[in-house]
Amino acid sequence: MKKVRYGIVGIGKMGHTHALKLMRGKDRNGCLTAVCDISDERKVWAKNNLKNTIVFDKYLDLVNSNEVDAVIIATPHYLHPKIGIDALNAGKHVLSEKPAGVYTKDVRELNSLAESKPDLVFGIMYNQRSNPLYKYAKELVTSGELGEIKRINWIITNWYRPQAYYNQGGWRGTWDGEGGGVLINQCPHQLDIFWWLAGMPISVRAYCKVGVNRKINVENDVTIYTEYKNGASGVFVTSTHDSPGTNRLEIDADGGKLVIEQNLLKEKLTYYRLKTKESIFNADNKKFMPIPPYKKEVVRTSILKNIYRLGIKGQHMNIIQNFSLAVLKGENLIAPGAEGINGLTISNAAYLSSWLGEDILLPLDENLFYDQLMKQRDAELAGKR
Ligand SMILES: NC(=O)c1ccc[n+]([C@@H]2O[C@H](COP(=O)([O-])OP(=O)(O)OC[C@H]3O[C@@H](n4cnc5c(N)ncnc54)[C@H](O)[C@@H]3O)[C@@H](O)[C@H]2O)c1
Repeated sequence: MKKVRYGIVGIGKMGHTHALKLMRGKDRNGCLTAVCDISDERKVWAKNNLKNTIVFDKYLDLVNSNEVDAVIIATPHYLHPKIGIDALNAGKHVLSEKPAGVYTKDVRELNSLAESKPDLVFGIMYNQRSNPLYKYAKELVTSGELGEIKRINWIITNWYRPQAYYNQGGWRGTWDGEGGGVLINQCPHQLDIFWWLAGMPISVRAYCKVGVNRKINVENDVTIYTEYKNGASGVFVTSTHDSPGTNRLEIDADGGKLVIEQNLLKEKLTYYRLKTKESIFNADNKKFMPIPPYKKEVVRTSILKNIYRLGIKGQHMNIIQNFSLAVLKGENLIAPGAEGINGLTISNAAYLSSWLGEDILLPLDENLFYDQLMKQRDAELAGKR
């Protein structure tokens, strides 16, 4: 195989961007050969705008076609695991959009199938993992430099969405079409980075407030409290109605403090690197109120510069290019598909905690979550009748 031949299922807002980038040669190891959508309008768009590309009506025809080696799934979330399973069974490599799915029960099935087919590459579009600041943070964690984590806090309230966003209809912002609100739509990237850096919690307590300042019946204001095996704790706060919002991630660890902030189009990582690990400093120190000495390191990036350099949605191409190299040359994936279940577990646990009003211990009771999710969906559908 010289180039990976991609087929894209779902060519709406996200899928059509991937299609155009591939068609314009933004990945020298991949090309676009097929797309599929159930919308006539999208199919007409594809016929008018995509050269040398077969347009399918049914995704099963695309995944079974000899014209594609890999399938990118860019449909609404509930469909991701099912299409992934069908594509793997048809012998195709799979790159799924985020989130991995809506509930972990069927994502687990997809993961088991992918595990049984090690020759097929399975990835997920967690493009934020290619952000240089999060990559650097990950290096500091995995190298042991940052030391044992004591606390992780993330306030990510700059997902401003007005009523008009929710009024546009379709699948977004509903239990039936989407399976939730800000946690399942806007936050999967941050929940992925949250566990990627701090590991998986052992318990989750959350308050998911529905329809704050918006007429919707999914959550748009969330506070999650997490606890970890080593005694560390975490807080994750998100909303869609704060303006101006905040995007600040802070990790306190034995080796120092790491802060990643985004302000408008600027991003900054500040690392307060302790000269001596705090636990060792504390063991030796005799003063009452000392300040453990540290060295401050600042790394800045400009989102605007990245957009000019990589083109809008540049991060997504990082993931696609990496995926092609994984298929052709066995390169390690930036975001392995099997890891998609982790952030989703935290979000499923957060919903369950909020609905039941209690701490949720992990591993999650996946059947209980599924039953509760279906209750939300049924109540929503009953309200519409
Ligand atoms: N990685 C990112 O940064 C990012 C950004 C935006 C969206 N997404 C994800 O991409 C997915 C799609 O989001 P979007 O904003 O493009 O939505 P969208 O509604 O604009 O597009 C979805 C498309 O899927 C099509 N579709 C639905 N059912 C189908 C089926 N059975 N077969 C074929 N096509 C079908 C729809 O007709 C539509 O054109 C979502 O899961 C979303 O979370 C990811």
